[in-house]
Amino acid sequence: AKLELTEHLMDGPKSVQELAALCSVAAGPLYQIMRSLAAEGIYREETFEVFSNTNMSRLLHRDAPGPAWNYSIIVGELYVSTFANLFHSVKTGQSAFADLNGMSYWDYLGRNDELGAIFDNLMTRLYDGDVEYLLNLYDFTSLGRLLDVGGGRGSFVRALMARHPEVECGLFELPAVSGRNELEFAADGLGGRCEILSGSFLEEIPSGFDAYLVKSVLHNWDDEHAARILRNCRAAGGNSARLVIVDFIVPPGNEPSFAKGLDLTMLALFGGKERSLIQFDQLLAGVGYRIASVVEGESQRGLAIIVADPV
Ligand SMILES: C[S@@+](CC[C@H](N)C(=O)[O-])C[C@H]1O[C@@H](n2cnc3c(N)ncnc32)[C@H](O)[C@@H]1O
Repeated sequence: AKLELTEHLMDGPKSVQELAALCSVAAGPLYQIMRSLAAEGIYREETFEVFSNTNMSRLLHRDAPGPAWNYSIIVGELYVSTFANLFHSVKTGQSAFADLNGMSYWDYLGRNDELGAIFDNLMTRLYDGDVEYLLNLYDFTSLGRLLDVGGGRGSFVRALMARHPEVECGLFELPAVSGRNELEFAADGLGGRCEILSGSFLEEIPSGFDAYLVKSVLHNWDDEHAARILRNCRAAGGNSARLVIVDFIVPPGNEPSFAKGLDLTMLALFGGKERSLIQFDQLLAGVGYRIASVVEGESQRGLAIIVADPV
């Protein structure tokens, strides 16, 4: 993905020597890598040392639909080294990423525009399908004017506004992300219906909204920080605004689940975790919310909507 081999092969097969020259790498090791990828169906060796694209390798094109290119870059650049340091998280309960890099994951992305944009696009591409699923599962228009807290590139609010032309909402993000959002929403003519707000949800969350959405955010944080985010939602929303959490719910027992795998990525990157319903209940009770309903669909990945009211 990083060498953009797929892009180089779009106009037909090339020899490893040609590819190596295009990518400024050594031909011998590149051959070893491409041969091992071809054994998995990613690229195909047509004749000795000459490779072509396959359906699978085409997914690694930077502009292909789906998350494969973005995912490969983020995993290769950030996750692999983090997982090699997983022991630190097990010993201390803290982020293996921060231990390695001397700063949090979010600070790191904030200081690296290119990787930051690749990560934001990864989130959009990974979760785009989920957004439609969630909108079919729950009537978000019943909540009134909603603030998407840590809403990334705004794929949720975009989809909500596209379905419901009357809806107005807000999108709250870190300054680096908000800067990119402001430009895009203005260019798309959505700026008028969606207020782009910037700050840190660990400090203060803007008030004045009827409901606060926290989607795929809490699992990035340990209990102390997750509680801080929720307390800030509670302070912003006062005694009336509903809170809506969208996250995976870890099922009890020994059954495999998507959340149990993702849980370790959250631990290593952030010292964070996926939570069971009981853990969400305890977290919410501690910050002045009571669960009103839990909406779960047929999704095998266990993505759920937890609606809570201020107590
Ligand atoms: C896993 S992403 C989820 C994004 C989006 N909610 C979604 O579902 O696609 C977590 C988001 O939290 C944002 N974030 C991290 N720290 C933050 C902070 N202190 N204040 C506001 N947003 C923050 C990140 O920029 C990132 O977009």
